[in-house]
Amino acid sequence: MLPQPVHGRAGAEASGPRGTSVGRQPPGPNRDTSAKPFATAWDDGGMTGTAATATRSVTTHRVSARIGAITESATLAVDAKAKAKKAAGEDVVGFGAGEPDFPTPPAIVAAAVAACADPRYHRYTPAGGLPELKAAIAAKTLRDSGYAVTAGQVLVTNGGKQAVYEAFATLLDPGDEVLLPAPYWTTYPEAVKLAGGVPVDVVTTEEQGYRVTVEQLEAARTERTKVLLWCSPSNPTGAVASPEEVEVIGRWALEHGIWVVADEIYEHLVYGGAQHVSMPVAVPELADQCVVVNGVAKTYAMTGWRVGWLIGPADIVKAATNLQSHATSNVSNVSQVAAIAAVSGDLSAVAEMRTAFDRRRQTMVRMLNEIPGVTCPEPHGAFYCYPSVKALLGKSLRGKRIESSAGLAELVLDEAGVAVVPGEAFGTPGYFRLSYALGDADLEKGVTRLKELLSEAV
Ligand SMILES: Cc1ncc(COP(=O)(O)O)c(C=O)c1O
Repeated sequence: MLPQPVHGRAGAEASGPRGTSVGRQPPGPNRDTSAKPFATAWDDGGMTGTAATATRSVTTHRVSARIGAITESATLAVDAKAKAKKAAGEDVVGFGAGEPDFPTPPAIVAAAVAACADPRYHRYTPAGGLPELKAAIAAKTLRDSGYAVTAGQVLVTNGGKQAVYEAFATLLDPGDEVLLPAPYWTTYPEAVKLAGGVPVDVVTTEEQGYRVTVEQLEAARTERTKVLLWCSPSNPTGAVASPEEVEVIGRWALEHGIWVVADEIYEHLVYGGAQHVSMPVAVPELADQCVVVNGVAKTYAMTGWRVGWLIGPADIVKAATNLQSHATSNVSNVSQVAAIAAVSGDLSAVAEMRTAFDRRRQTMVRMLNEIPGVTCPEPHGAFYCYPSVKALLGKSLRGKRIESSAGLAELVLDEAGVAVVPGEAFGTPGYFRLSYALGDADLEKGVTRLKELLSEAV
């Protein structure tokens, strides 16, 4: 017997802009009650039993409740709005995009050009990826993280995003809880919910440098907790956990039999003495309950090539490969050849980008902290600043009351031509995310405009 589905974005509209119940919470866990597993994701809209069954028809639920509850990626939405304004001739500075502003290094492009001309690369590859790429990823992982894995533990995916999706789809049963330190990358809760899991926000603040503590995680743990999502360096905050913190949290996960999905996509973008430590290296015994997610997008300025991977225990990788074989099959063969050149080459290109990002990071954090009502802790990784704008909420700006960071972000785009992503997208209203992966001159122009506008708030 099927209950009556709600039209459209049932979960999302019931509980807030993202379909999560984040609101303005104090630090601590937040169980997302809208995140029902597949089996219970239907809402009968007040009707039950045969009445609901009788009125159910194909025309009342064009989009399934499961897919209808997915929110638009706010980061891509901001970027699209900024690009549309630019295309219309407006002078917009975009801090929304999460991608390096550098071209892919020439040696990587040359490898792809050669592959295009070679009929060997015009065919399907094994669904899990070219064997030589898997071997190169295993070698790179040992070189960069000190983590020894076999090629059989690697699955090549369509970007890190597919790796995240497949990791949760492979690990979660309906109702399994996933601890998500917030602010979090906007895709995680959606991927968890699609897999039938329940995202549990563990909210961190600027005062703690957005670094979650083992005490916060322990307070959020229940007998349903299956996975901890771990992302350091973090998108959106730029926070980097210290080696000690990584070890303490890894040991806690081991002790409680909790899986860790460790997203290491920003591993090479750390600044000012910060160090990235891979969790299964800090706690080697954790390897059997850990899935590492990574990709070429951020390290080699290859966001458009769509190559990522996951690394995990052989049974998990085998199951995730089965899933991928029925979903997307192999990643573009030509992109896989480009990725071989990337991961087997040296790290000089990322070293150059890191120097530029570090300079821009320092400029941005200094300028943001000069704006009245804006507080920004220093980020030590990735390419984002995550300032609090909470002190501006409730004030007025150009005749409008500032009700939320989402509203303020719209005002900033309309009045100052500056695109930022509001904290609502990352599970923490009251903040902005600004990417500093853009030219120095644009960066200064954009933050200056922000300062001029926000200084008018009364
Ligand atoms: C934290 C994090 N993980 C994974 C990804 C996925 O990257 P891609 O799918 O482009 O490889 C991103 C991209 O923005 C990210 O910020």
